[in-house]
Amino acid sequence: MNSRLGSQIRDHTPARDHTLREILEGLSAPQKRLPPKLLYDKRGSELFEQICTLEEYYPTRTELSIMHKHGAKIAQAAGHDCLLIEYGSGSGLKTRILLKELLEPVGYVPIDISISALEAPARDLATRFPTLPILPVCADYTASYSIPSTPRTAKRRLIYFPGSTIGNLEPQDALDFLRHMKLQAGENGRILIGTDLHKDARILEAAYNDASGVTAEFEMNVLEHINREFSAEFALERFEYLSFYNESLRRIEMYLVSREAQTVRVGGTEIRLEHGERILTECSHKFSPEDFAALANEAGLQVEETWTDENEFFGVSFLRASHNPS
Ligand code: TRP
Repeated sequence: MNSRLGSQIRDHTPARDHTLREILEGLSAPQKRLPPKLLYDKRGSELFEQICTLEEYYPTRTELSIMHKHGAKIAQAAGHDCLLIEYGSGSGLKTRILLKELLEPVGYVPIDISISALEAPARDLATRFPTLPILPVCADYTASYSIPSTPRTAKRRLIYFPGSTIGNLEPQDALDFLRHMKLQAGENGRILIGTDLHKDARILEAAYNDASGVTAEFEMNVLEHINREFSAEFALERFEYLSFYNESLRRIEMYLVSREAQTVRVGGTEIRLEHGERILTECSHKFSPEDFAALANEAGLQVEETWTDENEFFGVSFLRASHNPS
């Protein structure tokens, strides 16, 4: 690892026992579910990067094109000397565009649950931006951790949450997380969030179930991750991937379906699954610009500007604390 990265990544990885409890709680609920963060082990993060390049998965390239086109305006709006904090830092492609445009940023703090997902992009950015302090934090960004300090004092924090990851939270959790971001950004801070917009169900469904099966492999990998790290005994061939667009809740729902009635041991506990029973792995909510602005308002934030592509497939919104918080 490049020595400028401080050689050590600040490690706030959640405790294994805590995660095992979350897994067992999820698998004991009437609608079985698994914590989405478990999708992102080393293999999962690699598969996710592959998803981002798929023809069917339009969000990544669309968001990138918005960043290319409007990056300079975004940087202007953010102003000089900001500290860039990113949740779920991923490959760093979008960040690179932003960092190129930002006016003398005082530092970059990528926060990711996967150490391996943090290392390579941080190294790459360190070469591209040799004078920028890069201070990675390995953590569940919905939990608590501290933001490292920078050599130069920031005028403001700019929180970056791309990829429509906000849509992977349940509406109430998305609201709570927006409130958390508002606190973390501080009085004078700004927030930049990517949101995937509501559109034709066929386009959406193809994006979450590609013809080459990468998405299915990504989802199935969560079982391998749990087998490896939490002494579980999921037989992958006894499950299959299912996803569809739920029009009334405006969300893609992703499941692993049990192909037969079975009992699976997970960390010493037996979990019973019926034939056809579904384990929810993740939802991906789709927004209208109005819905998103309303959600932000409820969190005491206001959308100053939203940039979209010509098809209005994706939105990138710039937010600040409301003058009259509700
Ligand atoms: N936030 C992205 C989305 O909802 C990424 C994502 C999460 C995803 N889970 C996924 C993409 C499963 C494809 C498949 O689109």
